[in-house]
Amino acid sequence: MYVCLCNGITESDVREAGRAGCLTPCQLKSKFRLKQNGCCGRCAKNIHQLVDIAVQGASEPCTAER
Ligand code: FES
Repeated sequence: MYVCLCNGITESDVREAGRAGCLTPCQLKSKFRLKQNGCCGRCAKNIHQLVDIAVQGASEPCTAER
């Protein structure tokens, strides 16, 4: 599911960012360049949801390396 339509960011992208250590609102905004380039900023207003998804991703075991 898309969490940011302007930049085409999915929940999966955010989980992966969480696994890579992006867990704070500032880190996520910076990584995904939210509120830049004339984007609507809707997802940045709901950044706490992205943080929750990233934290979930960080706590999940990584299955890609098996
Ligand atoms: S939905 Fe993310 S910037 Fe518009």
